[in-house]
Amino acid sequence: MRKLIWTTAAIAALALLGPAGAADQPIVIKFSHVVAADTPKGKAADKFKELAEKYTNGKVKVEVYPNSTLYKDKEELEALQLGAVQMLAPSNSKFGPIGIKEFEVFDLPYILPDLRTLRKVTDGPLGDRLLKLLDAKGMTGLAYWDNGFKEMSANKKLVAPSDYKGLKFRIQSSKVIEAQFRELGAIPQVMAFSEVYQALQTGVVDGQENTWSNIYTQKMNEVQKYVTTTNHGYIGYVVVVNKKFWDGMPGHVREACAKAMKEATDYGNSQSAKENEDALELIKKAGKTEIITLTAEQDEAMRKAMMPVYKDVASRVGQPLIDEFLKETGRSPIN
Ligand code: LMR
Repeated sequence: MRKLIWTTAAIAALALLGPAGAADQPIVIKFSHVVAADTPKGKAADKFKELAEKYTNGKVKVEVYPNSTLYKDKEELEALQLGAVQMLAPSNSKFGPIGIKEFEVFDLPYILPDLRTLRKVTDGPLGDRLLKLLDAKGMTGLAYWDNGFKEMSANKKLVAPSDYKGLKFRIQSSKVIEAQFRELGAIPQVMAFSEVYQALQTGVVDGQENTWSNIYTQKMNEVQKYVTTTNHGYIGYVVVVNKKFWDGMPGHVREACAKAMKEATDYGNSQSAKENEDALELIKKAGKTEIITLTAEQDEAMRKAMMPVYKDVASRVGQPLIDEFLKETGRSPIN
């Protein structure tokens, strides 16, 4: 009985103290990511911080940790699920290892001709449905952020599909990307983004694929003699937040954060293409890398060489999903 009275009293005291104490404390959102601050994702994350803190009058504090300072690719997703960080923006290619293969549809070679076409998917019902898949993994999908289109780099000139034969390429953890390099006769090797520069420098891998902004900000151009402008694939991000954390926020605070996210997304996505163009100019200026442009025939040969990937991964990604994606974009990947 005495114990019960004490417990009740303690609960009553906590109930009095709790909300008052909590009201003084900011709600901290740790936002971890793997790229430099000066990239499309880095800038969008910083914009979100600025706006979320402004719209909540400082009730929310966003701590952005760029450049894998907290976690590498795989660990950051595990940390989010455990609640050690609250927000991330991994690329579409990185959800496979936690059991969501569907985002790998974005990795299919030549599936997107431009960012305008991409919006038909991400801003439409298919984009919404894909985000909902995250719920089952304890995450809420908040937005799609762009980086841009991928180019191929190596210390060897990459022009024809046969040039890829036997070369080791670092890849993100996507089975679609793995299939793509296998179709080219190359040897794909999954590796965290933070390890790519050193792996290229020491010859652990021969090449990699990435956007101009990622190549430049990781200094990959200093250790790769050639980059071929292939634009064969897309890198974009899914902004995810720990679901329990998000649902547990006071409603008005969550709404303010959602507004900040919407505006940060519009800002980031309006800048990404320009940031990649600027990075290309900086790579040219640095003068360490030869930029190779493919002729129409060479481009066509690359497309043809990669087309079998669609069949290779149909059972993994889902043929209906691939068909729906192509229908939404109104295209076939070969044109
Ligand atoms: C990569 O691993 O190459 C990219 O996904 C890194 C990033 O977040 O842009």
